[in-house]
Amino acid sequence: MKLKSLVRDIPDFPQPGIVFRDITTLLNNPQGLRHTIDTLAEQCQKQDLVPDYIVGMESRGFIFGTPLAYKLNVGFVPVRKPGKLPGAVHAVEYELEYGTDTLEIHQDALETGAKVLIVDDLIATGGTAKATADLLAKIGSQLLGFAFVIELTGLAGRKVLPDVPIISLMEY
Ligand code: PRP
Ligand code: HPA
Repeated sequence: MKLKSLVRDIPDFPQPGIVFRDITTLLNNPQGLRHTIDTLAEQCQKQDLVPDYIVGMESRGFIFGTPLAYKLNVGFVPVRKPGKLPGAVHAVEYELEYGTDTLEIHQDALETGAKVLIVDDLIATGGTAKATADLLAKIGSQLLGFAFVIELTGLAGRKVLPDVPIISLMEY
């Protein structure tokens, strides 16, 4: 199945000159959604990247991370935007193009030393994925790798990530 044919290009979103890779057209296709999750799971198994927990970032990391965790029979841990998690959190601030943002994780979400795979829909600059890796370092997790549905290679986001395997299903 050609997954790229299910990703819609929207020119000039969110700003003039940017081509937005829209996954909503992949999500609403039953075969496309199933094939995406099945392929992520196969890649994890093939590359020996089956973790104890999948960690996914709000909000689109939840869409792919949770069914992947279900398929691999492991737990799911959400990383959220600030002020959403009710328990004690670790927080990391990271740079955006204009300004900064913060991501949070529950301090007791996973045990020290647990094996984790970070999952998101897309890597652009890598800032979000790097901040998530930094949060997991505060807990003392063992980061096995990253999995993305889409990698925007021109932004070289993988260069800012720790040196662990990276799965990506589509490159633009
Ligand atoms: C998007 C995307 C990734 C991130 C990638 O999320 O889902 O999480 O940006 O960009 P980066 O590699 O430059 O950090 P966004 O912050 O738009 O939030 P959303 O998932 O709630 O739409
Ligand atoms: N598509 C979806 N999300 C994004 C993109 C994109 O092209 N760039 C940064 N986040």
